[in-house]
Amino acid sequence: MTLCCWPQWVGFFQSHAVHMVEIMQTLAILKPDAVESGLTGKILAHLEDTGFKIRAARLALLTEAEAKAFYKVHEERPFYRSLVAYMTSGPCMPLVLEREDAVVHLREVIGATDPSEAAEGTVRRLYAESKERNVIHASDSAENAVKEISFFFSASELERLWGKPTR
Ligand code: CMP
Repeated sequence: MTLCCWPQWVGFFQSHAVHMVEIMQTLAILKPDAVESGLTGKILAHLEDTGFKIRAARLALLTEAEAKAFYKVHEERPFYRSLVAYMTSGPCMPLVLEREDAVVHLREVIGATDPSEAAEGTVRRLYAESKERNVIHASDSAENAVKEISFFFSASELERLWGKPTR
């Protein structure tokens, strides 16, 4: 190929562009306020309606040690003790959710931490009462999604559910 051909090659790749869509998983937790208020069905429907497949789900009552470990990144924050108390106050529902660009999409669908700042139609805007009691957690990066999924679900459990490795 001579240099004079490169514009045609650029045109070829532009017109035949393959859009790579990465199907990936992320972790969500429907928090104790969502479970206690009977909001799990509505939130699960919202997540499925926005394209997420539920790959794993269960109710879990976190111990203090588990809640502290899960939110260790926040241990220096003034709300840490209160957050741990809230997250251990009743059962929560950890979920493995799957779709393309799952981490980014889920964070869009749930909205800002503070429900008063969350966009209209987001889960937190619709259902959350405060910055702390904000009904749902979502992993903030692909790397943390892998760690947080394994905090609640083993690879063998997911493989048993779906008959193949799902991540
Ligand atoms: P989550 O997405 O699970 O990540 C950390 C959690 O800490 C957050 O949702 C809230 O529940 C809580 N949180 C974050 N910021 C504050 C704050 N300023 N005051 C009280 N709780 C907070």
